[in-house]
Amino acid sequence: MTNKYMYFIANWKMFGSLSSLNSVTKVVRFLKNFKKNKFLKIIYCPPNTLIYPLSKKLMKSRIDIGAQNCHEQESYGAFTGSINSFMLKNVGAKYVIIGHSENRHAGESDKMINKKIKSALKTGLKIIFCIGETIHERRKKNTKSVLSKQIRLGLMNIKNKKDIIIAYEPVWSIGTGIIPKLDDLSKIIYFIKRKVRNCKILYGGSVNPKNLDKLKFIKNIDGYLVGGASQDSKKFIDIIKKTYN
Ligand code: 13P
Repeated sequence: MTNKYMYFIANWKMFGSLSSLNSVTKVVRFLKNFKKNKFLKIIYCPPNTLIYPLSKKLMKSRIDIGAQNCHEQESYGAFTGSINSFMLKNVGAKYVIIGHSENRHAGESDKMINKKIKSALKTGLKIIFCIGETIHERRKKNTKSVLSKQIRLGLMNIKNKKDIIIAYEPVWSIGTGIIPKLDDLSKIIYFIKRKVRNCKILYGGSVNPKNLDKLKFIKNIDGYLVGGASQDSKKFIDIIKKTYN
């Protein structure tokens, strides 16, 4: 049982249509009646197409909305297919995920991630900054050096980190059903907390109601960034319930 303030962030990735928003209604209802609701923050990060309708739906709730990425320039520009942080804020986003491994894999560099974070902070969005090592890097025992580099370059010249949440997502854990050994995970979270003081540190990678029975014993985690399981309202609610049981 915990009374700690925890974040539950739903990353829907490239999933969801207007009808998917019905599942959020159940979560809104659950949150209203949940005794520990003052101890948690739920943030939905749907695809960009759903930010505006979801923000209308969640207007009277305590649930916030985030986007999954943004362009690095905060003003308008000739960048076909891109959306900047100002445009996301304009339709209801308060947060934005930056540096997700799926985008790093697609070519996003630490330098670009740093630019995006600065631009989104300037706009007034809060940041969910993702870091994590690949299986290859882990096997070579490079986890700590990889994380240090991602943090150093991603947060370069950003003094005020109060609006930054860090999500540790080992790449080998995303979508695989495998989570790190609890002891290893606790040590890595501690390592990150010492590197970036005063930031909340979340865990992401195959979080589901089953493995939450284990994850909840890691005391230094400040919440979860949930992919697949967040699209199913029952599973997402179970994750929250189990955290506080
Ligand atoms: P899964 O929970 O589906 O493994 O995804 C994790 C993730 O990438 C969240 O950002």
